Amino acid sequence: MSQSIMPKLGFGTFRLQDEVAYQSVLTAIEEGFRHIDTAQIYGNEEAVGRAIKDSGVARGELFITTKVWNDKLNKTDFINSVKESLTKLQLDHVDLLLIHWPSPANGESMHEYLTELQSAKELGLTKEIGVSNFTIAQMEEALSILPKGALFTNQVEVHPYLTNQKVRDFCAQNDILVTGYMPFAVGKVLKDPTIKAIADKHQVSTAEVVIAWELAHDMVTIPSSTKRENMATNLKALSLSLSQDEINQIDALSCGDRQANPDFAPDWDHDEVKTTHAWQFQGADKALALGLKAVPALKAGQILVRNLAVGINPVDWKFIQADPINWTDTHTPGVDGAGVIEKVGDGVDSKLIGKTVAYHHSLSENGSFAKHTVLYAERVMQVPKGLAANVAAALPCPLLTAWQAFSKIPLRKDEKVLVTGMGAVNKLLTQMLNHSGFEVHALSKSLTTEQAVKLGVKLVLRDAPSEGGYFALFDANGPEEAKKLVPLLQANGHVISILGRIETPVDEPFTRTISYHEIALGALHDYGDTQQWQRLVSDGEKLLNDIASGTLNVEEPTDFEFNNLNDALEFSKVQKQKAVVVV
Ligand SMILES: NC(=O)c1ccc[n+]([C@@H]2O[C@H](COP(=O)([O-])OP(=O)(O)OC[C@H]3O[C@@H](n4cnc5c(N)ncnc54)[C@H](OP(=O)(O)O)[C@@H]3O)[C@@H](O)[C@H]2O)c1
Repeated sequence: MSQSIMPKLGFGTFRLQDEVAYQSVLTAIEEGFRHIDTAQIYGNEEAVGRAIKDSGVARGELFITTKVWNDKLNKTDFINSVKESLTKLQLDHVDLLLIHWPSPANGESMHEYLTELQSAKELGLTKEIGVSNFTIAQMEEALSILPKGALFTNQVEVHPYLTNQKVRDFCAQNDILVTGYMPFAVGKVLKDPTIKAIADKHQVSTAEVVIAWELAHDMVTIPSSTKRENMATNLKALSLSLSQDEINQIDALSCGDRQANPDFAPDWDHDEVKTTHAWQFQGADKALALGLKAVPALKAGQILVRNLAVGINPVDWKFIQADPINWTDTHTPGVDGAGVIEKVGDGVDSKLIGKTVAYHHSLSENGSFAKHTVLYAERVMQVPKGLAANVAAALPCPLLTAWQAFSKIPLRKDEKVLVTGMGAVNKLLTQMLNHSGFEVHALSKSLTTEQAVKLGVKLVLRDAPSEGGYFALFDANGPEEAKKLVPLLQANGHVISILGRIETPVDEPFTRTISYHEIALGALHDYGDTQQWQRLVSDGEKLLNDIASGTLNVEEPTDFEFNNLNDALEFSKVQKQKAVVVV
């Protein structure tokens, strides 16, 4: 069996089960696919086998791949598992047998399972052997174990958002064929504007452009589909030819956006991210525009974060509307985000690479409305396990604002406090106050009894009371509204105005001596020192843990796709609800 008879365009079967797997493979073969990719772990070898048989296509015309799963890599189970796969597939051999994943840490030695893989070939159970998800270091080790020329392919994730260039270069230098899996990033890249523009020019679909791009790079690729028309479209890509400029444009979309990354994945070879997709300011009150932007070199203390989700806050659309600090036309707004640390600058511990963090960023720096954001390592919070990225991305601004507001007053258990403006900040703040023993009253027209109970509100007031005796007032309706409620405070009381400063005190000097507080996270960005940031980050991480454990309750945000970020801004503005853009 030589490489030339492995069809460059194959058909993937991950996720396809039972009748869907059977029908999809049968239809794919009818449409013209001659290369089918399955695996023991997909649980569909039996259905795939039936479809192959019922297709009536001669065995010699088909190229069938299966993969040995992690728990069968040991000497006792390996060959038996391959024989079991062949029974299910109703075949006496496959054309290609792969190690699905390098054995997870503390598993079987590579020498042991590659020896078994080689034995499978010698026994005639497969014509070719290869690996999947192997890093460069693991391929080097595999080459030193297997006979020269035996390593047929490394099947790895490749699509326009993860070009896996380093791995592909190594394969090219060592005569190992690359099979690119998840070519569409499971559909994500099919909506990309650059790919769409190329598709429109050729009057084809984005799927065809993506497959043609994979093939132009001399890769084999294995898209999956459950629909006949999509299968037919995908096959048409074989006759689409892209220009070098178009190929370069698609190469430039790579941003390390990996889809298949289970806990047991190896320590991947990361490509350097040179450009990123970023939403850019176009002038006051104009929609943001999406475009490619160079990723700047990291300074000492900085990190590059690949955003998983971006939080939308009222401050974002307010600044886009009014442009109070004169952003340039390429400025990327966005203060909140959550993502994975991809790269670190000088002085930052490289063990942080791969950690998931949430952050609040300065309004004057390029922000979170991008696939990548440059941040200071000392200003990001690690996200605890169990807290989803979209929830984490929605938190930094409201959570840290609530915490700063809470920290303004001395802890006086059982004192009565009044909270007004029940948005995301005050819902968190109310719980912090309640947990610390304050008696919380909420002035709100819309807060339901059920919400009040959940937040720990003792009394809901629909209208401002005529008298109060409150120890503190936390207002998120604006300084003018806050000012009207100051008379409700007791002597030495506190007013914490979350949306801006109360310019002039209500009382004469030497009367009730009310303390006036203003809150703005931006103050720390511009005037904070390392110690203050350390304290805020450490407090913020404890609060994220409280949210992960359910001690603090948060509402699920509404998710938008990255390409629809302008809609998320509009939703936040009109619906006054929390929106998150999932990258
Ligand atoms: N070695 C490994 O560890 C590994 C890991 C992951 C995947 N793989 C292999 O790679 C194969 C492909 O990956 P994948 O299936 O996860 O993802 P994929 O091929 O990137 O995307 C599949 C998705 O794309 C849609 N699609 C297909 N053709 C389309 C078209 N012409 N227009 C619009 N949408 C289209 C499909 O929907 P419809 O069904 O609606 O068409 C499906 O939802 C897998 O099936 C598997 O064989 C290997």
